[in-house]
Amino acid sequence: MKICMIGSGYVGLVSGVCFADLGNNVICVDKETNKIDNLKNGIIPIYEPGLEELVKKNFKNGNLNFSTNLKDSVSKSDIIFICVGTPTKKNTNAADLSQIFAVTREIKKSIKKYKIIVTKSTVPVATGDEIEKILSTSKLKKLFSVVSNPEFLREGEAIRDFIYPDRIVIGTSEIRANKIMKNLYSPLISKGANYLNTNRRAAELIKYASNAFLASKITFINEISNLCENIGVNIEDVSIGMGLDKRIGSRFLRAGPAYGGSCFPKDTRAITDTGIKFKTDLSLIKSVIKSNDNRTNLLLKRVQHILKNKIKDKIICFLGVTFKANTDDMRESSCLKMIPFLSKKGANINYFDPSGKKKILQKIKNVNYLSSIKEACLNADLVIIHTEWNEFKSINFKNLVKKKNFSIYDMRNIYSYKKMKRDNIKYFCIGR
Ligand code: UGA
Repeated sequence: MKICMIGSGYVGLVSGVCFADLGNNVICVDKETNKIDNLKNGIIPIYEPGLEELVKKNFKNGNLNFSTNLKDSVSKSDIIFICVGTPTKKNTNAADLSQIFAVTREIKKSIKKYKIIVTKSTVPVATGDEIEKILSTSKLKKLFSVVSNPEFLREGEAIRDFIYPDRIVIGTSEIRANKIMKNLYSPLISKGANYLNTNRRAAELIKYASNAFLASKITFINEISNLCENIGVNIEDVSIGMGLDKRIGSRFLRAGPAYGGSCFPKDTRAITDTGIKFKTDLSLIKSVIKSNDNRTNLLLKRVQHILKNKIKDKIICFLGVTFKANTDDMRESSCLKMIPFLSKKGANINYFDPSGKKKILQKIKNVNYLSSIKEACLNADLVIIHTEWNEFKSINFKNLVKKKNFSIYDMRNIYSYKKMKRDNIKYFCIGR
């Protein structure tokens, strides 16, 4: 099939490359000339394991192309995926849909024969209705279908999640559009992916409800981990014990720092806005947002307690600063609250991250990037393990640096509490 992805960011690029790898003819469009030129030269704008190889392979065999020309790319394609950003609108909880509607108006100019317009961007319920309204003129009446096809890709696992999805959700009540979309996904369906055809509003809501549910699950286990700390129970045992119940499931029950990233914080906020629009009080999701916001303060209090309230001139080392492992993404990482707070209190922050130095941390006083775990930990008073990169999982802290009298705050519970005790290391963790 001939496919056009509008927006070559995370969602557009990963999905476009994967569609190309399934044998389709894909054009990834973006308005940033520099990004498109780089992509043509195999330079990838984001860190995603496996993506570079797949881009190069499919660009070389001609299945994948890149362009800044939206009009031309749309006219050549049968299925147009809208993959532009829907960030939180300034000073509100609502999603900013300006890019979605701007792109829709552009697409409208290039519809000469039947096309399916698909929203892959996360869009609030009824956005598809708005897109349809913009496209509708008597001339174009039967020349398009607007379909919702939310993405469920996790950063760091995006290619795997695309190829082996738990489900493919297609929101359309039109038989023709559903048939074409099902055909597009048939290689994944034949490998066992569930295919759900529902109406467009339901598909839009499935995306938000799923992210809000997962965010609630994490927040739930984080609160239970607070309780564990106060009653002397191990959160890992509780997670395992709960997860063995198939109705609950074991995934997304890892306690840790506040959840972050470009999705959960933004989408939980946006669904509460949808609640207001449709006169429904989503009190549970509102308290999840509040609890997650408080979580960073709570962990910071613990840091102060570990350092006996003497933060000034202490050297604090962060291992990992992104919102989770296997990504270079800093968006809504809990570090962005922790590091400025500790720096303001007079601490010196050293950090190491396998995805490299972070521009956003450069502006903060007394924050230094070190290029290895060892250098970052050298002279530290406290080492905070903030993300769960594989590189951090088997550090021999005992032998890492000679002067090893630092404390460790393992926010991802990577290490064995008993082993640390045996090694005589002052070790603190979450809910254990
Ligand atoms: C999330 C969803 O998992 C995807 O299904 C969805 O497609 C995506 O948002 C999106 O809407 O685009 P992502 O933000 O990449 O994916 O990251 P997750 O792996 O879900 O992690 C989100 C946050 O939850 C991270 O801060 C992570 O550390 C935290 N987390 C996750 C936990 O604290 N505990 C867990 O058990 C799992």
